[in-house]
This record gives sequence, structure tokens and C-alpha cells, in this order.
Amino acid sequence: MKAIIALLPGDGIGPEVTAEAVRALRAVASKFGHNFIFEEADIGGIAIDKTGKALPNETTALCKQSHAVLLGAVGGPKWGPASKVRPEQGLLGIRKELGLFANLRPVRHFPSPSNHTVFRPEVVQGVDLLVVRELTGGIYFGEKRREATWAMDACTYSEAEVERVVRKAALLAMSRRKKLTSVDKANILETSRLWREVTERVVRKEFPQLELEHLLVDACAMYLIQRPSSFDVIVTENMFGDILTDEASMLSGSIGLLPSASLGEGRLGLYEPIHGSAPDIAGRGIANPYGTLASAAMLLRYSLGLEKEAAALDEAISQSIQNGVLTADMRQASPLSTSEVGRSVETLLLNLPVV
Ligand code: IPM
Ligand code: MN
Repeated sequence: MKAIIALLPGDGIGPEVTAEAVRALRAVASKFGHNFIFEEADIGGIAIDKTGKALPNETTALCKQSHAVLLGAVGGPKWGPASKVRPEQGLLGIRKELGLFANLRPVRHFPSPSNHTVFRPEVVQGVDLLVVRELTGGIYFGEKRREATWAMDACTYSEAEVERVVRKAALLAMSRRKKLTSVDKANILETSRLWREVTERVVRKEFPQLELEHLLVDACAMYLIQRPSSFDVIVTENMFGDILTDEASMLSGSIGLLPSASLGEGRLGLYEPIHGSAPDIAGRGIANPYGTLASAAMLLRYSLGLEKEAAALDEAISQSIQNGVLTADMRQASPLSTSEVGRSVETLLLNLPVV
């Protein structure tokens, strides 16, 4: 197939990790006979420097004309909290512009020789969960106000916003182990009470085969550490999902491993690692590209419908991790570079039998 992929490398380590994902996608194209066309555009700090805007109109236009968007990361000390225009506005902006309300963040434990997690092996063994984070509502998008001694961030959710993301999560749970955990703070927040009511209604009526549990976000944070392998699909609002997925990333060993897919009603999706721009290590070729590589696999699966190709890339990634091809965040003794990881995945992928 022919597909146009918008490439938004962004800031910090973004360009380094996206370059490896492009390498992998080119290998997929040559192995399976596809034609992927990459079109690059600016977002975040680099876009602010060039145009004064974190999300230039050309970038939005390019994304809308593409089949999928692959993004690196945005942000950096140069455009800190005091700046008038912030790189993060570019990321929130493109998610909103493309209507990408569901953010899928899978967390798996990958066995590797260096046993790189901070957990006892028996705790993380078998962890295979998926967080579906609501992405275009809640406190990140509500009204903001700042007075001299007072500030406000409003959190709002409509019934329709909850329904569509819960439906998406429920559908995904149906194709997995059929367990859905909805996370809220219904003992305090009005938006959470709405969230819980809508979730109950949608799931009981449309997905009676699912096992549904409701957890308060504080308890969920604890259970993610205590019994992580008991989770299948977790669905939650924007900020809770943001926080819980950074926590959950530790189950896999490094935040650098975690991919994400942001989806809306159609096929167009945005794919990015969940980590940030890591300005402290930018430009040194040592960033972990696995999260972006795994995001590229999600791109193949969800936007291009290329399941076989996605599975092959996932397999090459698992093998490479198992072979101990790891960057400094996961391996102290002679860690490998970003591009060594990329080349390892490329070679493994090209050598996989085509089924
Ligand atoms: C993430 C990031 C972003 C978010 C920031 C950079 C806007 O933390 O993708 O998790 O909060 O969504
Ligand atoms: Mn985050």
C-alpha cells in the first residue's frame, strides 16, 4: 500500500528517536512491498523558534492530509513555564485539531537479560495492560485563569466525551482478556461521578460480557504496584491517565519503552512515545528509541491496518530487548546507542520469516 506519514520530530531527543522509527518503517516497507512517504513538519519549541507558534497551520494541514502522524517529543528548558508560547500547546493543539480523544498506552513487561526493572521478577512477570487515557477533555483543556494570588484550571466532561472513550476502551477489552477497570475520583469530583455513571451504563448495556471494576485513582496507583498483572484494560480521564502511565511505565523497566497511539473516530492517528524530550541527554545519541519503534508498530496496526507488519515489528523489538540490546536507561555496563538499537531492530525485522 501507499501511505503518507507525517513526521513531527519536535524537540530534544525527538529527532533522534523518530529517525530510528523511520528506519524501521522503511524496512517494513521494503520487506512487505509497501510505499511509505514521509513528510516532515515542525511542532513544539522548534516551531516556536521558526514561526512564533507551537503548532503552525502548515503542520496541522499536513497531518490532516496524511494517513498517520509520527511524533517525537516537545518541550525544553529554553521554552520554560514563564514563556508566553509553550511547546506543549502544540501537542495538546494537534491532538484536539485531529479529534484524537483516545490515547492507548500499552504496558508490558519485557524479559531481558539485565532484569532492568526495580520490581521483584514475580511482581512484574506477565504484566500486559493497556491504559486508555481520555485525551482531549478534562483539566488540561478547561478554562484557565491567573490572578496575582490566585489561579484556576477548570475540569469539565460531557456525557458524550465519556461515552466515546469508554466505548473505545470496552471494544479493546473485548479483544483482550475482557476485563475493564474504570478509574476516577468519584468520592470527591463531580466529573468523576458523571464518568462512573456513564461507564456503568455503556458497559452494562453494550458490553455485558465484560468484567467491569471501578477504582479510585489513589487506590489504582497503589494496585498498579501491588498487583500489576491483574489489570487488563484501564480507562480513565486525561490527567489521571497521564500520571498513571508514567507510574506504570516502571513496570516495563523504563519510560523509554512505552509507545502510544492517539485515535479518534476515523483511521487517522498520532503515534508517539510517552516520554518527554529529555533535554538532558538530547543530541548525544543515547536515548532509548524502543518506545518510538513500538509506536511505529501501533501506527501500522491502527492507521494503516497492517496487522502482519505490526506484529513483525513488535516481534523484532521483543527479540532485540531479549538479546540485551539496550540503551543506558536499561543497562549500566556498556550500553548501546540509539542507532545501534535501531539497526538491531531493523536487522531482526528483515530476517524474520514472512508468514
Ligand atoms: C504526555 C505528556 C504531555 C501530556 C505533555 C507534554 C503535554 O506528558 O504525552 O503524557 O501531558 O499529555
Ligand atoms: Mn505525560
